[in-house]
Amino acid sequence: MVVEAKSITVQYKGKKYPVFKDLDIEVEKGAFFVLTGESGSGKSTLLATLGGYLTANSGSVLYQGEDTKQWNKKKWADVHGNEISYLPQSNLFLPYDTVLDNILLPYRFQKKKDLEQLKEQANEWLDQFGIKELAKYYPHELSGGEQKRAALVRAILQKPKLLLADEPTTGLDNETGEVVAKALKELALQGTSIIVGTHDACVEKYKTDGHHLDIIKSYR
Ligand SMILES: Nc1ncnc2c1ncn2[C@@H]1O[C@H](COP(=O)(O)OP(=O)(O)OP(=O)(O)O)[C@@H](O)[C@H]1O
Ligand SMILES: [Mg+2]
Repeated sequence: MVVEAKSITVQYKGKKYPVFKDLDIEVEKGAFFVLTGESGSGKSTLLATLGGYLTANSGSVLYQGEDTKQWNKKKWADVHGNEISYLPQSNLFLPYDTVLDNILLPYRFQKKKDLEQLKEQANEWLDQFGIKELAKYYPHELSGGEQKRAALVRAILQKPKLLLADEPTTGLDNETGEVVAKALKELALQGTSIIVGTHDACVEKYKTDGHHLDIIKSYR
């Protein structure tokens, strides 16, 4: 398995109920996994927990068979820099950098990355997503859906082993959403394990082959 959670419970500090309790999930290489559930059910929380951006109160998250509880900050930085990518639901970009600079930012600190090549690939992806001409603009000059596509370019540029995509097609028109969903599925075929968190309205686009977890809100 690329990532698996064993009986994880997450409860935010100060909150009365856990978001989810004793949850299990297994995601193999190249899997395309869709998380659904109503607003507030815990899709974003689960994505963040699987990616190591949030620690579960109990249970374990295993990455490629290793219990991540043993990992220190350096190990996490290495894995986040090279293997796991995350498309957050919001707060996508730094406001004072252009779109292209934002896309390349995480790669600038990695000596072994060829920035010129990455820049070329970024432009190809932007083109595929229909926003190539927006590379030189600042984030506030883009629409929400345009920003989301650009942030997705940043997340997939390094061809991660695991991509955690929080609402990648939410807010996009149908046609653009299809382009993005298709690109993600293509990436999974090439071996990236992908977990998408999405509102039910978008789930049709993904056709998941049974890799689907519907999170039931733990309280009303
Ligand atoms: N940082 C936080 N501190 C405290 N509670 C939080 C925090 N983030 C989320 N929550 C709570 O945890 C629950 C799950 O939130 P989460 O964002 O994971 O849901 P979601 O399924 O992604 O919702 P949406 O569809 O609206 O994006 C909600 O009840 C929310 O209020
Ligand atoms: Mg969410």
